[in-house]
Amino acid sequence: MNEEIIEKAVTAYRAMHRKPPEVVVRAPGRVNLIGEHIDYNGGRVLPIAIDHATIVAVGRPVEDTRELTIDALDIGRVTRLPDLETYLARGHGSQEAHLDYVVGPLKILLEKGLDPSPLNCTISSDIPIGAGLSSSAALEIGMLVAARELLQCGGDPRTLAEEAMASEHRFAGTPCGIMDMYACAAAEAGHACLIDCVERTCTQIALPDSDRLRIVITDTGVRHTLADGAYADRRKDCEESARRLGVNSLSEIEGNDFDADVLPEGIRSRARHVISEMRRVDRFVTAVENDDLPEAGRILGESHRSLRDDFEVSCAELDLIVEVADSIGIPGIYGSRMTGGGFGGCVLSLCHPDSVEPLKAEVIPAFFSEFGRSPRVFETNAAGGASPLR
Ligand code: GLA
Repeated sequence: MNEEIIEKAVTAYRAMHRKPPEVVVRAPGRVNLIGEHIDYNGGRVLPIAIDHATIVAVGRPVEDTRELTIDALDIGRVTRLPDLETYLARGHGSQEAHLDYVVGPLKILLEKGLDPSPLNCTISSDIPIGAGLSSSAALEIGMLVAARELLQCGGDPRTLAEEAMASEHRFAGTPCGIMDMYACAAAEAGHACLIDCVERTCTQIALPDSDRLRIVITDTGVRHTLADGAYADRRKDCEESARRLGVNSLSEIEGNDFDADVLPEGIRSRARHVISEMRRVDRFVTAVENDDLPEAGRILGESHRSLRDDFEVSCAELDLIVEVADSIGIPGIYGSRMTGGGFGGCVLSLCHPDSVEPLKAEVIPAFFSEFGRSPRVFETNAAGGASPLR
């Protein structure tokens, strides 16, 4: 898995530093099966790690130096920092944005007394950027696992996820929840991660084998930036709803009953999404445990409508893919929904193996005729989480 990008990173590292890397880490992207915009509301979410990943190759420089050398192969940029402090002093130029995800995690380690300097680092990835597949969380977790491995003090998945989230909040400026990084750090192949975002625990939920269930991702090609205001606005709406309902977070509301009247119209539907989505997570887990894939698929459809109408984070491209997938009428296309933060990105579909080609055959031309370009459709396994390769 990921042989091409592993080879690319290792070869480039060797060429630049005239010796092989000491540690090579694979850190996967993720796709969320259900529980959207729930992590920062204290509920439970159910992501998987995907086959696409980021490779981080690291080692110590031969020379006597404090320097950090960062070779970001996919954007063709080499950065040399005399030390970690210099990173903070630099401007936030757009060409340097990737450094937030590389140096931010190292700063978090340094603050814990784990000094990763000096360091050579080469990065390569096949996770599409901005597609809602958590390329940034993969890079942060990849950096943390690589640096900790070099320092011979590995961290457990929860610690890694908390470090990556702290880095994201402080250096990338995105007020995200813990889901993406936790999935990247904790995933086990063939399983989904049921993450309790308050307890910060993860329970592995076994998924059906690929001869019974295929996980299909359709990338709209519409790119989003979570750092721009809409994600933060949704989070504020949820916090305001919780405050008015007299709870610390919306996860404290039991069942679907809440006094909607105390919420102003503008945010009522936001709370409705969160509260209904939390119930859908439990129902989805039960459906998977009962091997009831048609029911799991129906729940995905409900989730999409709630994200589209109540939470208002979908877009025309996502909606079209879900509508077309739902209208095909083949029982083996169990269900589809937008996945991730929204405003673009990808649709997740759950299918029987025989139904993947019929799905593509309808969705791709329908999307082309509406938007004049083809979406990228690919399957993924539920992959394992971040770990050193050697
Ligand atoms: C983004 C954030 C996550 C989560 C999802 C929505 O991916 O990074 O923390 O909030 O959106 O479920």
